Amino acid sequence: MDWGMANRINRIIKPDTGRTLMFAVDHGYFMGPTTGLEKLDETVMPLLPYADSLMLTRGALRYYVPSSVDVPIILRVSGGTSILNKHMLHEGIAVGIEDAIRLNVAAVAFSIMVGADYERDTLLTFTKMIDDAERYGIPTLAVTAVGKNLVRDAKYLSLASRLAAELGARIVKTYFCDDFERVIQTCPVPVVIAGGKKIPEKEALSMAYQAIQTGAAGVDMGRNIFQAESPKAMVQAVRSIVQDDFTVDQAFELYSDLK
Ligand code: R5P
Repeated sequence: MDWGMANRINRIIKPDTGRTLMFAVDHGYFMGPTTGLEKLDETVMPLLPYADSLMLTRGALRYYVPSSVDVPIILRVSGGTSILNKHMLHEGIAVGIEDAIRLNVAAVAFSIMVGADYERDTLLTFTKMIDDAERYGIPTLAVTAVGKNLVRDAKYLSLASRLAAELGARIVKTYFCDDFERVIQTCPVPVVIAGGKKIPEKEALSMAYQAIQTGAAGVDMGRNIFQAESPKAMVQAVRSIVQDDFTVDQAFELYSDLK
């Protein structure tokens, strides 16, 4: 691996633990002003010291985040459909590689829809983005999105994750599921889990704990942090699981104390 590529990945996945807490606030590119992110800067800035990287769109980065921050940026580069579209996540390249470089990003993130009607379309666009990013030593994070008719089980998620890695993703984001070992053991690149819809804080901590203990390299969590009753307490509790090996009870106690 060339130095630039290795350095970018090491900035995201901390070499001393092999883990990462990605804080995802890219929802606006298809969901608009998501609950908790209406004033994105007010939510995000106090939480940044606890995040290993920040995943967001170029618009959010330019409009809400000062260029003085010292956090690796994972730039959402796929897009093109909204939650109002029946073909939601039928995405193409929404940011060219030149602008990603201009924004000094540590990685680019692209959603793929394995098993959807337009699978070939999203996968070939994904590989085009990978070719562009690899040319400049920028890793691509594959976001394995799941269509409405697909089941988020280990069989499907291991297929989507392995496929993403074999097509060139350097990091894969997927969902936690039963038999998650199968996803981890058959994917040759680091796997992080998405948080998903808001669930009770202790359940979100438990999901993060199980994923980490099974071998996930981290979490790419958004709503379960910024929609928590206390986002600042929650990001620290999730961090304690990802980077400090806290148990669920210890992390929830930390959350409750900080809240
Ligand atoms: C979804 O495609 C977006 O990339 C989100 O950033 C991602 O799903 C993580 O956010 P959440 O934890 O809210 O699901």
